[in-house]
Amino acid sequence: MRFFAFFSLLLLPLLSAATDNGKTTDVTWDKYSLSVKGERIFIYSGEFHYQRLPVPELWLDVFQKLRANGFNAVSVYFFWSFHSASEGTFDFENGAHDIQRVFDYAKEAGLYVIARAGPYVNAETSAGGFALWASNGQMGSARTSASSYYEKWRPWILKVGEIIAKNQITNGGPVILNQHENELQETVHEANNTLVQYMEQIAEAFSDAGIVVPSSHNEKGMRAQSWSTDYQDVGGAVNVYGLDSYPGGLSCTNPDSGFNLVRTYYQWFQNYSYTQPEYLPEFEGGWFQPWGGYFYDQCEAEHSPEFADVYYKNNIGSRVTLQNLYMVFGGTNWGHSAAPVVYTSYDYAAPLRETREIQDKLKQTKLLGLFTRVSSDLLQTYMEGNGTGYTSDANIFTWALRNPSTEAGFYVLAQSKSSSRDVTTTSLNVNTTAGAITIPDIELDGRQSKIVVTDYKVGKASSLLYSSAEVLTYATLDVDVIVLYLNIGQKGVFVFKDAPEHLIFQAYGNSNVTSSTSTHGTQYSYTQGEGTTVLKFSNGVLVYLLDKETAWKFFAAPTTSDPHVSPSEQILALGPYLVRSASINQDTVSLVGDNANKASIEVYAGNSKVKKIKWNGKSISTKKTAYGSLIGSVPGAEDAKISLPTLRSWKSQDTLPEIKPDYDDSRWTICNKSTTVNSVAPLTLPVLYSGDYGYHAGTKVYRGRFDGKNATGANVTVQNGVAAGWAAWLNGVYVGGALGHPDLASTSADLQFNSSSLREKDNVLTVVMDYTGHDEANVKPAGAQNPRGILGAHLEGGSFTSWRIQGNAGGEANIDPVRGPMNEGGLYGERLGWHLPGYKAPNSAGSESPLDGFSGAKGRFYMTTFKLDLDKDLDVPIGLQLSAPTNTSASVQIFMNGYQFGHYLPHIGPQTLFPFPPGIINNRGQNKLAISMWALTDEGAQLSRVELKAYGAYRTGFDFNQDWSYLQPQWKDNRREYV
Ligand SMILES: *[C@@H]1O[C@H](CO)[C@@H](O)[C@H](O)[C@H]1NC(C)=O
Ligand SMILES: *[C@@H]1O[C@H](CO)[C@@H](O)[C@H](O)[C@H]1NC(C)=O
Ligand SMILES: *[C@@H]1O[C@H](CO)[C@@H](O)[C@H](O)[C@H]1NC(C)=O
Repeated sequence: MRFFAFFSLLLLPLLSAATDNGKTTDVTWDKYSLSVKGERIFIYSGEFHYQRLPVPELWLDVFQKLRANGFNAVSVYFFWSFHSASEGTFDFENGAHDIQRVFDYAKEAGLYVIARAGPYVNAETSAGGFALWASNGQMGSARTSASSYYEKWRPWILKVGEIIAKNQITNGGPVILNQHENELQETVHEANNTLVQYMEQIAEAFSDAGIVVPSSHNEKGMRAQSWSTDYQDVGGAVNVYGLDSYPGGLSCTNPDSGFNLVRTYYQWFQNYSYTQPEYLPEFEGGWFQPWGGYFYDQCEAEHSPEFADVYYKNNIGSRVTLQNLYMVFGGTNWGHSAAPVVYTSYDYAAPLRETREIQDKLKQTKLLGLFTRVSSDLLQTYMEGNGTGYTSDANIFTWALRNPSTEAGFYVLAQSKSSSRDVTTTSLNVNTTAGAITIPDIELDGRQSKIVVTDYKVGKASSLLYSSAEVLTYATLDVDVIVLYLNIGQKGVFVFKDAPEHLIFQAYGNSNVTSSTSTHGTQYSYTQGEGTTVLKFSNGVLVYLLDKETAWKFFAAPTTSDPHVSPSEQILALGPYLVRSASINQDTVSLVGDNANKASIEVYAGNSKVKKIKWNGKSISTKKTAYGSLIGSVPGAEDAKISLPTLRSWKSQDTLPEIKPDYDDSRWTICNKSTTVNSVAPLTLPVLYSGDYGYHAGTKVYRGRFDGKNATGANVTVQNGVAAGWAAWLNGVYVGGALGHPDLASTSADLQFNSSSLREKDNVLTVVMDYTGHDEANVKPAGAQNPRGILGAHLEGGSFTSWRIQGNAGGEANIDPVRGPMNEGGLYGERLGWHLPGYKAPNSAGSESPLDGFSGAKGRFYMTTFKLDLDKDLDVPIGLQLSAPTNTSASVQIFMNGYQFGHYLPHIGPQTLFPFPPGIINNRGQNKLAISMWALTDEGAQLSRVELKAYGAYRTGFDFNQDWSYLQPQWKDNRREYV
């Protein structure tokens, strides 16, 4: 006791008032935690990019899933590229560009928003999020204070900033933090440094836009000391410093590599941001994979729940009180939005899969979200100690955190060598208000971490003096309900603090619980059995003992829409795959949720009047247990008929008519520039960079002309993103190209001309190139402004007389604003809108399918329609499975109802299965599927599999039966000018 008195005194002066930024006191901070409206809160956030899920209604689906899984915030990048097709234009209205709906749905679901609008965001998105029109080189020294750059980005920040500002917590919205730039390293701490001035410019622009919530930033790993008011602040520093960390080092092939915990976060924050709470703005929720790499499903280590368990608990042990998982839901790099570092899927092995399905890693992540939600004593701790000296087994590392005012202790245990798979049983020495105690028999099963609590506040009669079983959560309802979890077979002990005398209990379930008297109270001991055991104590307290996998099915549905959920504002539900919400009306508790398979459900509503359960609006047969919960069972989708049609009745047309010498390109843009806005010098003139002519995303087609029969060949260099191949034709005859390679930013080829192909006048060299995105900032020499298109074209034995370029229809005109500026490339079929619903192929169209393919260096555009008629109350994620015969070198794109939702490179891989969210695909209605395919060699191209595939089926209370026609504008006869 004296020990605590001593420490409390010592720490009292440190418990100073919260800091604010002078603009609002709605969000404040101190060295422990963030406070919103005066209340401390653990920010348990996940990164979500609405652009990567272009169906606004599904943002609510994702947000509800996050909320149900313990999150109270989302962190959101805003991609300038998605909203600005040309200088001076912004779209915040059409379809998924309407970001007001991001804020509205977040608020509806009960999530705060951390806004991250750049201007540069990286994000594995094309040009790191810079508008593509600006990324042609005209910004000059990007991410500095250069005026050429400033003039371009400032209107974006003012515009998006204004919408963010409207949605700040100060205006009743969900925004609590606003990030400036992204992973920008402060390497020179001098006020006149261009980066310092740039950060000042950003602060000023956001301020001009009306942002008043605290600013934040994200240090890129422990590599610099950036933008903290606590470290060499010469300007540009933000209110709340943050550190990004991706520490897993996990491998897709070797489950034993990596898994090395970083245990220096605490010291880092102590050194560089000691007046602020510890904030991890990006912590590994998964990792992306490159072209030619592995598909996410292969990377088992990234999907493992043990990663979430050990790593996220280590963050807590390090005193972190703001954590954002990057990504919590990755989504899809549809419509050319990927940077070249990644393929179409941005699943990211994130806890919530690209298909919006909940995997075990998210369930494990939830256990900590629900724990941090109610563990208010965790919001004000100091590092009491750490190391291997707390346990009887020196192979266990322990963090010991102490709350100075309540004396609560949090001991976070993990294997000292974090990758160890040893099963270790140890005892732990803790200090409590009842003195020093040794807690026995704590087992760590390999890559497992445990948080052992002491003096843990619950309700008046049920606080825990200690527990070696982990606290999942607790609820203070009509009685206090404590939920503990352990692996099956693991031992747990707990002791109540200030328990009434003669407390007895009744046990329901198969974990055998015994009690014994000790000097500090009655100790309850048990070995965790399978499933649920409930202890009902004579003072009313209920203790749920769950095995870990049963705990995964546990929900504490908030009865408030406030992100801040108090322990009394929860309804406990156990059993289903997802409980989105719960509410009580008279004698009925109504739950909304999803279920793959019929499941038992147990609800503790905390209200003895409640006798009935409604699941998704329907009453289910309900029984009351002896301890006051309700049980029943909820339906799944196992009986649902999911019949997906075979794709047939294809129409096909030539999508490379431009390779014919007599093709009429008179409407194309003439490449006539002899100087470029780009700092990268062209290899030959005229300038052939697509960006200089207003073409940015997607395939580009060039036609170079020359006269005479003397030319023997051409040397052409193409740069359109790594892995992007290209091919060239002389007067309609294939003359070579490059397949593209994941390691090659640009590729050159010596094209050999056969003299028999040459003509006296008007020879035409047609060059068609695939595109995998604009680079991110780290790619030399010009980062996001590395030119795209042809870098140089040199004719051997002659010279080109003219060049023309064609790219996406309308260039920067954004002729399909709903799908946005990056959805289309410049393939003939795209320009004419063949991918769009409502386009009818003429009678002259062929009936070949992609399975028929073609021989020779050509390209075809295949179209079909199909109907789906799935049950109204189902969520069935559907994808398209493709494969191709080995040695097929081709560029393949998938369009679902007009959205480019897949880019398949059979010769590079790895992705072959491409999911479509509802709203892009119509699960009840007509669909238009188009596939473009062009061969990179004269071997032709063919697919061997084109099949719809269902990932799963869930009976759901969410409305997936919506009219999404507004997201799928139809073909209009306005595209002739883009031939
Ligand atoms: C920037 O400031 C530093 C330190 O105040 C000074 O030494 C340096 O000369 C300045 N540089 C420029 C370019 O003004
Ligand atoms: C362990 O705790 C001590 C005492 O608070 C602290 O000084 C030290 O930095 C901590 N070690 C680590 C690795 O955080
Ligand atoms: C408990 O407190 C004592 C007295 O301050 C200290 O020496 C000891 O290391 C502490 N033990 C633990 C396990 O924290």
